[in-house]
Amino acid sequence: MQVRVCTDARGAMDCADAFFGLDAQVPLAGGRLARYINLDNAATTPPLRAVVDAVHESLRYYASVHRGAGYKSRTSTAAFERARETLARFVGADPVRDVVVFGRNTTDALNKVSNRLPMPGDAVVVSTLLEHHSNDLPWRRRARVVRARITADGRLDEADFDRLLALHAGRIALVAVSAASNVTGVVQPIHRLARKAHAAGAPIVVDAAQLVAHRRLDMRPHGHPEHLDFVAFSGHKMYAPFGSGALVGPRSAFEQGPPDAVGGGTVDIVTESDVAWGALPDREEAGTPNAVGVVAMAAAAEVLTAWDLDSVDAHESALAAYARSRLSEVPGVTIYGEPPSRDRSDRVGVIPFNLAGWHHDEVAERLGREGGIGVRNGCFCAQPYVAALLGIPPASVGAFQGSHAGRPGMVRISLAAYNTGEEIDAVVALLARMSAARGRRAGAPIRRAARTSG
Ligand code: ALA
Repeated sequence: MQVRVCTDARGAMDCADAFFGLDAQVPLAGGRLARYINLDNAATTPPLRAVVDAVHESLRYYASVHRGAGYKSRTSTAAFERARETLARFVGADPVRDVVVFGRNTTDALNKVSNRLPMPGDAVVVSTLLEHHSNDLPWRRRARVVRARITADGRLDEADFDRLLALHAGRIALVAVSAASNVTGVVQPIHRLARKAHAAGAPIVVDAAQLVAHRRLDMRPHGHPEHLDFVAFSGHKMYAPFGSGALVGPRSAFEQGPPDAVGGGTVDIVTESDVAWGALPDREEAGTPNAVGVVAMAAAAEVLTAWDLDSVDAHESALAAYARSRLSEVPGVTIYGEPPSRDRSDRVGVIPFNLAGWHHDEVAERLGREGGIGVRNGCFCAQPYVAALLGIPPASVGAFQGSHAGRPGMVRISLAAYNTGEEIDAVVALLARMSAARGRRAGAPIRRAARTSG
């Protein structure tokens, strides 16, 4: 199948040239070297070459941001603030009414919203069962979280979402949804959900970590019924793995009260007994910021903006369809969250599966050791969603507390712009071997590693 997608206004380029490190050789069991196949892009992506170049160049002039008068400090500060503007444009933020606050990642950003948003005692956060723990646990500290159920094929049950909005009308402090699931790739109708949230009088926060490298995100203007109030995303999932993430939201949400984290950079005046907080965005970026990570994110955003993301999406969708179809040829493979209609336009390229007779730890380990293939397995930091997809009742989940061995979970393939059909073929060939071996070891106990990830 067609493998080239890294198109831009000037035409197609070879993806192998656009990314850094795709040619890395890794040792397999037995000592042979093979090119590493990365199918774990939902966890973290390799850097774009343009990002590596931008980081390299920025380091030549790297010095303290916002804290120095030297030439390098002024240069670093200017690059840092230019990056803020680039990332605001990247998601269609309002340059006057919104603020971009940099932190470590999406988790950091969502915690900041949770810490800063006023939540009365009876506040309710309406969310969905599809969420990553980072878009669930922060809200639990401040409010009662209610989650819309999923359909049999793993999508949001929007009727249940509507029911929750009606049921909790008047108490909803926030609606919190992901733009795309890190487990099934399901893309949520964020603008329609925003319209509904606003009609219920609540702002919406969107965890966009799994979307921004694959599809265009536009917050839409303030006052538009489908405006996204807060958006959070991470550099390491958009080809800029240098430790930065961004939160974009209305300035008004951060102007009152003390900042989330306090310390250097957050203040205007400090006396021994008093403090006057500084202006945005500095007041919400305590300590010396990660200028390198932020420059990397901006460089990635520029490439993604220049690319024809529709072609990227088309390639990733075709590859995901190819992967689903090839995986389902392997006896014993179950793919989760499969749409009965076979309409996959509402998915990004994330495919969770299991192979009968093999624990997910073993499958992931074998792919790594024997094929040089990187996948993630476990529950992907989305345990309630994974449990629902596996049909494990919430009351039974407690039985696994404290013990990782034998925990249920899945294996996940997650695609990016540079992945190819040949890489899928390599996975399928290994799974087919494991599937055939399954018969031979029928009855043998399944070895279970103690490494299952949350
Ligand atoms: N959220 C990341 C994943 O799904 C880490 O793997």
